[in-house]
Amino acid sequence: MQYGYFDDEAREYVITRPDTPYPWINYLGCENFYGLFSNTSGGYCFYQDARMLRLTRYRYNNVPTDAGGRYFYLRDGGDVWTPSWMPMKSKLDRYECRHGMGYSRISSARNGLAFTQTSFVPLGDNCEIHKIVLSNESKANKDIDVFSFIEFCLWNAFDDMTNFQRNYSIGEVEVEGSRIYHKTEYRERRNHYAIWAVNVPVAGFDTDRETFLGLYNGYDQPETVFAGKANNSIASGWAPIGSHHIKVHLAPGESKTMVFVLGYCENPNDQKWERAPNAAFGVINKAPANALLEKYSSTEAADKALAALNEYWTALLGRFTVNADDKCMARMAGVWNQYQCMVTFNMSRSASYFESGIGRGMGFRDSNQDLLGFVHLVPERARARILDIAATQFPDGSAYHQYQPLTKRGNNEVGSGFNDDPLWLISGVAAYIKETGDYGILDEKVPFDNNDALADSLFVHLKRSFDYTLTHTGPHGLPLIGRADWNDCLNLNCFSAVPGESFQTTANFESGIAESVFIAALLVWAGPDYAEICRRTGRPEEAVRADKAVAAMTETIKAHGWDGDWFIRAYDAHGKKVGSRECEDGQIFIESNGFAVMAGIGLDDGRAKKALDSVKERLDTKYGIVLLQPAYKEYHLELGEVSSYPPGYKENAGIFCHNNPWVTIAETRLGRGTRAFETYTKICPPYREDDSSLRRLEPYVYPQMIAGKDAKRFGEAKNSWLTGTAAWTFVSISQYILGIRPEYDGLRIDPCIPAAMKGFSVTRHFRNAVYRITVDNTAGAEKGVKSAALDGKPLAPSANGALLPALGDGKVHEVTIVMGW
Ligand code: GLC
Ligand code: GLC
Repeated sequence: MQYGYFDDEAREYVITRPDTPYPWINYLGCENFYGLFSNTSGGYCFYQDARMLRLTRYRYNNVPTDAGGRYFYLRDGGDVWTPSWMPMKSKLDRYECRHGMGYSRISSARNGLAFTQTSFVPLGDNCEIHKIVLSNESKANKDIDVFSFIEFCLWNAFDDMTNFQRNYSIGEVEVEGSRIYHKTEYRERRNHYAIWAVNVPVAGFDTDRETFLGLYNGYDQPETVFAGKANNSIASGWAPIGSHHIKVHLAPGESKTMVFVLGYCENPNDQKWERAPNAAFGVINKAPANALLEKYSSTEAADKALAALNEYWTALLGRFTVNADDKCMARMAGVWNQYQCMVTFNMSRSASYFESGIGRGMGFRDSNQDLLGFVHLVPERARARILDIAATQFPDGSAYHQYQPLTKRGNNEVGSGFNDDPLWLISGVAAYIKETGDYGILDEKVPFDNNDALADSLFVHLKRSFDYTLTHTGPHGLPLIGRADWNDCLNLNCFSAVPGESFQTTANFESGIAESVFIAALLVWAGPDYAEICRRTGRPEEAVRADKAVAAMTETIKAHGWDGDWFIRAYDAHGKKVGSRECEDGQIFIESNGFAVMAGIGLDDGRAKKALDSVKERLDTKYGIVLLQPAYKEYHLELGEVSSYPPGYKENAGIFCHNNPWVTIAETRLGRGTRAFETYTKICPPYREDDSSLRRLEPYVYPQMIAGKDAKRFGEAKNSWLTGTAAWTFVSISQYILGIRPEYDGLRIDPCIPAAMKGFSVTRHFRNAVYRITVDNTAGAEKGVKSAALDGKPLAPSANGALLPALGDGKVHEVTIVMGW
């Protein structure tokens, strides 16, 4: 069953009923201020860091679900209702929520009163704007009471939900007309406050939650709204909220608009006060709030800001557009997948409806992968991110697994020792250079361990990454796995028997033996880029050394990483194979197979084909490829978290979407376009739009995981939005299926598509030129470019398609490609 539809023209997903199988959300903001926004106006917002600077409160894991948001209560005569459906679950005569690029719009109506809420974060400012329009569609005059409602978070979201002995005494606000200021902890070490304001006069306000709702009432029973009159309460401790009471008279056919602003304001430390808190009360310096509210004091200003946001996204998405008969593919590759890549680039794994915003910082491996799908959108930001990530690398080439976005410091709690981390930096940098041609980044001086005294060029960082892998190998010459590799749950040196102990940070069995075939394959994938970078920057000897190391590792994989029909996954701390037919469970894993073939291993001797055929035979399902088979049924001390999950979930044989595109890319290396596309479509959300009751999550974004065939709820998705799936599926569809691939010397066009796809066209901005590429596949090929032309002049195709030179002239160029043999 469907709960909405794609409006491709408007780049919106339109939700047509509020009771979606899970809250379907959107992200507002793409710079410093962010809001999570559900289809019933739930969610919260924060400035830069979802843990440290959270403006509004949100209750994860609440009943009912999705509790907390920017709510508007309407009182129309005696009738009280919430136009976003939640929190009152009001019966609505009509309802629609449109999630677009950085904005959402909820429209509803009841008893002849229509409501529209347009919510977004304007470019360049640190606030959410909620533009409300009320229209009287009835034949009679209406006198409406509007009550706004948000609940403030006391900034640190973790303390906010744990430290009540303190919290209940510290909440402070100020109110001035239509402006409510949240200033908890401002008298001490904070120099920031939040503002919740509206651009029309109010009849009253409330800032104390108990007064507004009633102590024993939920959000669905606000005492004040039923009474129809605000109490002008001033919070003092307990739970500060912001609620405006506005009286609106509407003649038949009349509409009225209000602009609400929910924002973050900061003062220099020596200008915090208008009147210092000498006796009891201080008065905060409202200059930044005044400036912000002045800017958005009119409907026109709000509309202009929304139009600017739309133009911003039109320009961004214009960098890669797709036209094809397959609408699901075209809308994902052209719009939603790229949009999700922006979100993962910004959020890493911090704040979603499955990530609480208080847990993880930016991941070394995660962020390097996220930028693979983002670098074509805003290369300068990818560049800055690379330098931040590299600064958390240790002098020996290993890395902090995570760092905090606010401080940009490595996170000690999680520490280091995930031995795949270093190599992802090479992949990230290579992608950046291929996109931009900017070799200058290699000369940037970057600290090690955030210590300037240890700074060296980014190139040296890459060298240390490469060397770390080569110098940390085990008995078979394969890289040591350390705490874990890409699969966080393959904890081969952990041996945890204590409930609650972290699988990722406990290493009580430092075997010095457990090896990863995946990291070996990653070396064979990233190593050639390292060698190429050396060659192109005047380091020919280092290039030769790197090539030799890659060739040697390839042989090692063939000798010790091959199980007969597929690549094995690892050797455990006892030297036993993981991911081999010798194992009882976990005989075959997706990661080593996808990555080895992606890296080209076994293309020459039939192993690649065999490996992918084994993946298809043993791991493929109708909803995607599961991570391993057979699922672990018992807990294995020597394997760690992977065996802790019930069969079919997460890393234990779930469809872990992140690595499905590795198989897609691998299939294109074999030239099997039909199969490559099949692996792409299986996990691609819009193809299952009408299966939303089972799938449950947003049909416009990828989830991290879909329950595998061993699970009770096979096909149910979890953990939408923040997943490396976004970047990798975009890489797989744009660079390997459609085959538009940035390389050091230009843009390669090397499609690998289903024989049945008759063609497609792509517009690609690349190094200051625009390429309008039309691919003709009337021949029904799966791979192979028969002829190519650039601005009407023939280009010589090779076995790998055609290479468009980087023209860099700011002009539009026409490219025609004919596929065939
Ligand atoms: C999560 C992590 C990622 C890891 C993956 C597999 O998505 O963010 O770093 O590679 O799980 O365990
Ligand atoms: C768990 C999850 C894994 C995630 C990790 C992050 O191990 O299964 O997906 O990457 O936690 O710490």
